[in-house]
Amino acid sequence: MAATPEDFRTVLDGMEVALLFLQPSTRTSLSFQVAVHRLGGKAIYNSEMSLSKGESLADTVRVVSSFADLLVLRHSEKNTEEIEQHSDIPVVNAGDGSGEHPTQGLLDLYTIQVKLGKLDGLKVGVGFDPLHSRTEQTLLNALSMYRNNEVVIVAPPECQLTMTQVTDLRERGLVVEQSSRVEDLRDCEVVYVNRFQTENLNPKLLAGIDKLRSIYRLKAEQVEGSNIQLILDPLPRVGEIEGKVDEMKQAAYFEQAKYGVQLRMAVLSIVRKNSEVGRLLSK
Ligand code: NCD
Repeated sequence: MAATPEDFRTVLDGMEVALLFLQPSTRTSLSFQVAVHRLGGKAIYNSEMSLSKGESLADTVRVVSSFADLLVLRHSEKNTEEIEQHSDIPVVNAGDGSGEHPTQGLLDLYTIQVKLGKLDGLKVGVGFDPLHSRTEQTLLNALSMYRNNEVVIVAPPECQLTMTQVTDLRERGLVVEQSSRVEDLRDCEVVYVNRFQTENLNPKLLAGIDKLRSIYRLKAEQVEGSNIQLILDPLPRVGEIEGKVDEMKQAAYFEQAKYGVQLRMAVLSIVRKNSEVGRLLSK
């Protein structure tokens, strides 16, 4: 018999989940909070962190992990696995700097599966700042784990993946094409775009950001009559998709965000199930 939401109401019964978000977040942090509540746990969080006083992330994690049963962590360093070693409790990576964003990647795959019914044999267009976007790097890694996938990566040359990154993806079986023309997205059945990550751009690129945004923008006229069946964006949107696209049948980014709660409920349930006895509720 298929599981119902009722079956999950007590998964985190009596547990406190620390949500430590050291970088801005709307969707990820709130969907984790709702997911914890729906699983019967309590979310704890703090907006003013002692990191601003100069405390190391390792010390913060060490202390917080002595209070809670599970830690959801977003931070600006690219090393969640290393940081995890300072924690006595399971750590869920909610985005680590320019590294990875695993729960967003799962959410992206889930949305593609729900909408198109497959994760193999896809042609996916990815734009417009893959070099700095952790969601795009995670998505590309994830697509390389399925068969016969092809990606067209559209970005200005300064924001393209490095040759090493491209070679690595190719070696894992992904067909990778790089382009600087937004029109090349028209051939793809899935288009995945993300904002320019202005917090990580060099000053020269930042100075020309308005021009970049006007060129690298998905417009309704480009979607019309194209092969595009699905348009995704992890959000927040900062100009990379024209507002008119929202009304088109291919636009699925708000639905994608909505699936965040159930996806994160699933992740937390799996972490709970797989954790060693004593690591959760060990206090
Ligand atoms: C993304 C992130 O934080 O990497 N947002 C999210 O979690 N949905 C994308 C972004 O900030 O551009």
